[in-house]
Amino acid sequence: MTTPSPFRNILLIGAGGSIGRIVLSALLAEPSFTITILQRASSRARLPPNPNLTVITVPDTYPTADLILAFKSQDAVVNCMTTSSVSEQYRIIDAAIAAGVRRYSPSEYGLNNANAAAQALSSSVFAAKGAVQAYLKEKAAEGRIEWMSIASGMWVAWAIPHDFMGMHVRKRRFEMFDDGEGRVSCSSEANTAKAIVVGLTTRVKETRNRVVYLQDYSVSQRELFAEVERQVGGEKFEVDVFDSLKRAAEKKEEVREGSVQAVYDLVNIGFMTGRYGGFFEKEGEILNEVLGLERTTLEEEVADGLRRLQGGGN
Ligand SMILES: NC(=O)c1ccc[n+]([C@@H]2O[C@H](COP(=O)([O-])OP(=O)(O)OC[C@H]3O[C@@H](n4cnc5c(N)ncnc54)[C@H](OP(=O)(O)O)[C@@H]3O)[C@@H](O)[C@H]2O)c1
Ligand SMILES: *[C@@H]1O[C@H](CO)[C@@H](O)[C@H](O)[C@H]1NC(C)=O
Repeated sequence: MTTPSPFRNILLIGAGGSIGRIVLSALLAEPSFTITILQRASSRARLPPNPNLTVITVPDTYPTADLILAFKSQDAVVNCMTTSSVSEQYRIIDAAIAAGVRRYSPSEYGLNNANAAAQALSSSVFAAKGAVQAYLKEKAAEGRIEWMSIASGMWVAWAIPHDFMGMHVRKRRFEMFDDGEGRVSCSSEANTAKAIVVGLTTRVKETRNRVVYLQDYSVSQRELFAEVERQVGGEKFEVDVFDSLKRAAEKKEEVREGSVQAVYDLVNIGFMTGRYGGFFEKEGEILNEVLGLERTTLEEEVADGLRRLQGGGN
């Protein structure tokens, strides 16, 4: 048995996005890495000039020939691409294999996308991501590449300005599913990014060919809403209560009719009701300790989200 050489050359896709930017700075902060990013020609991302970063610009369709060229001599590819593009990853994975990349980390960062109930709820998000994961498993079984999927649960600080998890803080309104007691695992975006770095450096074996479940804390909608109300000064928000099964059926119909918003409504039902693989204590081993991640708290993440909302930001 020879010891495999460490992951040194790392290529990141989607570095201009909301998690991509945070992953990029975590990767750049790891001195043993040499970082390349693959940016779409139309990308609006403004990255600060950095002599340690190689930027490869490709056409927006990520042509296979450009991918193979960019992937040559890369040890690992980390993908942070936008939700609606995740099914581009079959070609991207094939190109990574063709170029000899050793590990691929798909764009997931959510719940357990292999969960059958999640896949049945949302074909365009959970099932699409789950199918890419299944493809990676198949390629790994053939010994062609290894993979590492990060299941981060929800990012509360991201969810507040984006009106996710049933929160509409600008409108002082919440949408609660059922009794509001369903639980969801949550991580900070910083810990999500750190898990990738640790998985490619000191915890290579522990993160090989598996879903890396992360949970800083878990929360129910009732607990989340109470913390938001507390932090905005005790004001009581309006609460609309929905039957999640009825609402899921309605939203599936709206998705069939072409609604993009309904796609995200289904994602929220998936995360927030506890029935679709978003509460990791029921899904598998949570790896925060193994990866040495310090847990953030609900209180800190709500405070961060409210700051971002005030800044008008993302
Ligand atoms: N756990 C959570 O709470 C949570 C929240 C949000 C998202 N997510 C997940 O995290 C992953 C990344 O999401 P994100 O919100 O960070 O993505 P995003 O900001 O919408 O986009 C990320 C990047 O995707 C690339 N991209 C590729 N094809 C694109 C296209 N057709 N249109 C626009 N951008 C395209 C772009 O990279 P360049 O500009 O560099 O070319 C873009 O900056 C997804 O899997 C998503 O489902 C999880
Ligand atoms: C580039 O890498 C070197 C060596 O790791 C580091 O000292 C320097 O701060 C980095 N520069 C930037 C702009 O990040």
